[in-house]
Amino acid sequence: MLGTGVLSRARRWWRRHRPAHEWWDEMYRRYGPYRASQAYDRDEQDNVDYFAFRAEWHRRIIERFRRPEDTTFLDAGCGNGLLTSLLIDMSFQVTAFDFSREALAQARKQAGADRVRWQRSSIPRFRSPDRFDIVRCAEALVAITDDRMHAKAVRVLADCVVPGGHLILEEHLIPEHDVPERPGRGERIRLRSLERYEALAADTHLRLLEHRHVPAGEHLHDLDLLVFEPTGEVGAPSIWRRVGARLLRR
Ligand SMILES: C[S@@+](CC[C@H](N)C(=O)[O-])C[C@H]1O[C@@H](n2cnc3c(N)ncnc32)[C@H](O)[C@@H]1O
Repeated sequence: MLGTGVLSRARRWWRRHRPAHEWWDEMYRRYGPYRASQAYDRDEQDNVDYFAFRAEWHRRIIERFRRPEDTTFLDAGCGNGLLTSLLIDMSFQVTAFDFSREALAQARKQAGADRVRWQRSSIPRFRSPDRFDIVRCAEALVAITDDRMHAKAVRVLADCVVPGGHLILEEHLIPEHDVPERPGRGERIRLRSLERYEALAADTHLRLLEHRHVPAGEHLHDLDLLVFEPTGEVGAPSIWRRVGARLLRR
């Protein structure tokens, strides 16, 4: 008896403290393709509808900011690739990454997946010899609860954008006074405010060009789409980028 009690406490402890990528692996394994990134307690049809709603808004915002010369797209925290597939239809050369092995395994089965360069990485650690015309991160920064890591992730994403390109974030923003001082123990999601993103942008040589709040109506959560551009103060390519570019040229 004592043994099973200890075991179930240990299991609960592990569920709460295991690395975030393993938590996401389980989400993707346990729930259907649409539910893993949406809401776990709703009907599958609600999630399919919500996905269609998000996809439509992503298409609109990308079309609005895409320059005629834009061809390359980085999808950061791409999950199981449902939103990534749309980019292939929009004729981008797509690189996509996520830190969940299970998400990537599912992503590789999406239609057109063979035309995407998939990588496994966490956002704050992502390194690439290339910069991209458009970098998008949808509903993934929200999963980085540590504020310092989150700031680092925004810097990494900013650094991946070509001068004149755009960084598009999908967030679910809340008023600044509702943002808790620090995340609760074991929390997997941390919602932030527009003010925090504005402050981060200033630190990261980004300019906020557009914040579009899209009420979700009967859907699940309102969307906040944020579009930034580098202000031209982006530094010289990092040592990593230079070494990577040299290796790729060989
Ligand atoms: C809510 S899902 C969104 C997936 C996809 N972008 C979409 O919009 O459908 C969040 C995704 O972010 C990924 N993620 C969370 N934290 C991450 C991190 N630090 N680095 C890379 N991916 C991360 C998770 O594995 C998950 O696939």
